[in-house]
Amino acid sequence: MSNTPVTSAQPSPKIDTRLWSTKARNLSPYVPGEQPKHDHLCKLNTNENPYPPSPKVGQAVEAILTNGADALRLYPDPESDGLREALANLHHEHGIDASNVFVGNGSDEVLALVFACFFMKERPLLAPDISYSFYPVYAETFGVHMVKIPLSDDFSIDSDAYRQPCCGIIIANPNAPTGLLLGLDAIRKLASEHPNAVVVIDEAYIDFATDSDESKQGNSPSAVALVKEFDNLVVTQTFSKSRSLAGLRVGMAFADASLIEALTRMKNSFNSYPLDRLAQAGAMASVQDEAYFAKVCQQVITLRETLASELAKLGFEVLPSQANFVFAKVPTTLLDGDAEAVALALREQGIIVRHFAKPRIDEYLRISVGTSEQLKRLIEALKVLV
Ligand SMILES: Cc1ncc(COP(=O)(O)O)c(C=O)c1O
Repeated sequence: MSNTPVTSAQPSPKIDTRLWSTKARNLSPYVPGEQPKHDHLCKLNTNENPYPPSPKVGQAVEAILTNGADALRLYPDPESDGLREALANLHHEHGIDASNVFVGNGSDEVLALVFACFFMKERPLLAPDISYSFYPVYAETFGVHMVKIPLSDDFSIDSDAYRQPCCGIIIANPNAPTGLLLGLDAIRKLASEHPNAVVVIDEAYIDFATDSDESKQGNSPSAVALVKEFDNLVVTQTFSKSRSLAGLRVGMAFADASLIEALTRMKNSFNSYPLDRLAQAGAMASVQDEAYFAKVCQQVITLRETLASELAKLGFEVLPSQANFVFAKVPTTLLDGDAEAVALALREQGIIVRHFAKPRIDEYLRISVGTSEQLKRLIEALKVLV
């Protein structure tokens, strides 16, 4: 039914690793959520947006493809100046200009460069014990000593627990897979308490966050608002979720110009052209269609609340998500509360959700917000299991 992951913790015994470096042999790569080849599956496992990107993205890409052979014959702008300007414009009220913006091939690449630039130091990097599972992979890849700080019993981030010597802190906000949001006051505190460490806030899901003191006052809960206040703060974001462009691979970081310069030097020591011409043009078109962006985010937020309440009716304990997924504890009425068995049973019915066989969260499922039709299909499929 699916393609198998191409990587796992250990290379298969059939693979000849004789010519590999020790480093390559010892890697434990990140295993991405399954990307099935079959269209009819209801794919609620990798937090993609259920809606298409702005039609202007397709038009911009099309324009390049039809603009004669030269467009693709030539290398793209290595620094993606136009896109960086457009992103800076989105945040000009916070004093952001293009020197505060870095772009890369998805935020995964931006995060990898962040690890290489700021965390390969003697002091440890601090990160929540339950968070984006790529962080420990980068730590291993770059030889970064990462110390995991336990989330509180309610899965919230205890910012006081980060008050210890470190070279940096990385927090996904909203966190993944919990979906919980940390407020700007706590982020301000982390950045001011660690003036000599780099504090990274990974905002892959921030555009779906509405329930913060900031949003109640009509402001965004994004820490981009704090970049001019703290020269040790890096905020990463992505086009993959709220802008429906996971396939285009565009991510960004906002930070003080000195930190951006470090990222740029690291990029230019690895791959000078991480964003191709289609990605730069498509991403710019997306940024220029803010009305569409706002509409899609609102649709996803509305459906998230419906999904959470439908799951709660079935007995799930649903964490208050601020992302485009929900994280929910499976009730004992459903296959004795065996979350992995529920995920497998849903799969039998053509619905893929994510289960993490990890301590503290193995009774939970992470379910991406889909279309209303997908939501109905999921709830019907769960009812069959009661
Ligand atoms: C917390 C978090 N950060 C970063 C990413 C990477 O996103 P991308 O590389 O598509 O920009 C993801 C993807 O799921 C994520 O969940």
